[in-house]
Amino acid sequence: MTRASSMFDLISDQDDERPYFETGGIGRSHEFYTGEEQHRREMARIYGRRWLPVDHVSRLKDKGAYTTLNIGTGSVLIIHGDNGIQAYHNYCRHRGYKLVEEAAGKRQSLVCLYHCWVYDRNGKLKSLNGTYFDHFFEKEKNGLLPVRTEVRFGVVFIALSDDAPDLDASLGEFGEFARVYELADLECVEAKDYPVASNWKLVAHNVNESLHFPTAHKDLHRITDFDDAGTYELKGDIVGAWQSIRNGYNSVSMTGRSARTPMELVPEADRMKINWITILPNLLFGFTADYVMMQWVWPESPGTCFVRHFWLFHPSETAKSDFSHEAVFALWDKANYEDWEMCERTHRGLSNPLWAPGQLSLDEEVVSQIDSWVAAETAERSDTAANAEDRAVTSAKAEDAEQAADISAKAEDTAAKAEDFAGTSETGKATG
Ligand code: FES
Ligand SMILES: [Fe+2]
Repeated sequence: MTRASSMFDLISDQDDERPYFETGGIGRSHEFYTGEEQHRREMARIYGRRWLPVDHVSRLKDKGAYTTLNIGTGSVLIIHGDNGIQAYHNYCRHRGYKLVEEAAGKRQSLVCLYHCWVYDRNGKLKSLNGTYFDHFFEKEKNGLLPVRTEVRFGVVFIALSDDAPDLDASLGEFGEFARVYELADLECVEAKDYPVASNWKLVAHNVNESLHFPTAHKDLHRITDFDDAGTYELKGDIVGAWQSIRNGYNSVSMTGRSARTPMELVPEADRMKINWITILPNLLFGFTADYVMMQWVWPESPGTCFVRHFWLFHPSETAKSDFSHEAVFALWDKANYEDWEMCERTHRGLSNPLWAPGQLSLDEEVVSQIDSWVAAETAERSDTAANAEDRAVTSAKAEDAEQAADISAKAEDTAAKAEDFAGTSETGKATG
């Protein structure tokens, strides 16, 4: 296949006149980022309902390889069984003991450490300890409870509900990025979890804009140019941005240089770029010509989340005897801690009920898109019927124009919130 000259040739025509460029956007309310009710809706309607990314296939290659992930108050086990990769609720069917605590590993049998029920790698109950009532106990009905599982472009997705919106429609144009960066074939060389004391949306914002690079990340800023950057308008429940690598460097790493061969299908114009693509709600990619960083953020409470970060490289590189991901890992590991400080301190700022949202710049279109999408998904029930008909992010994006026009109304609203604050000081929460 011939190489396109730019990702812009491979995605839908970009509208340079989109509403955001006329009006910009603004942030949202204190309640939107910190409220219990907003969090409850996000868990129910987004994380409890939609297809969610949970892993990369390269981490689950062998039979019996497993990973676990905590989602809200639940936990999911993803394991490579005899029929491929399948997710299960990560608790024992006997009395609910959390079956696997480790984040990753390999086992052919899963033994519950409470009373020793044993499951095989297909989730079937294999053996039990204790005396049961054989005349009605059915072993086959006491296997692990499966969770809907699909794999696309090397990413494992799960859905905790039966009415998740169509996965392929949600992924929209993501496939073009996945194809040229060979996502399905990459190898995960390292994965690391980070707890973050902020709302998950603040992490999603942070990863999708480079405006903070000069102040937060001196290493990244040295190598990437936040002034030569832009946003995409993409089809599907995805958002994206791009940013240039400065002349003199060829890799986003501590050294800025790499001998790795650029991935073959990456367009010429994108070899000196990072393409930041997010599959909403929470899967964030940094695509570069010599590796891909993938990270996702999982809410735990309104004010806490955790991030799982993966470093993915092409197998033709990882097979080399002198392969090292050290300079790449070092850059992002440091940048991650710098980012969490930004997110956590922002969360502390927004936790003031008197917070009034400010104007977003042209570089922050994605921040506005993420918030608009989440707001549409979690709108008051009376709005839900309309939203359900059009969950595509494009409709959410259209809200940006209205939202920006609404700045003065929001300013007025601040006075009302001040009253609310006084009125709700017993609980410390305002509703809305
Ligand atoms: S809870 Fe697992 S065997 Fe009892
Ligand atoms: Fe950052």
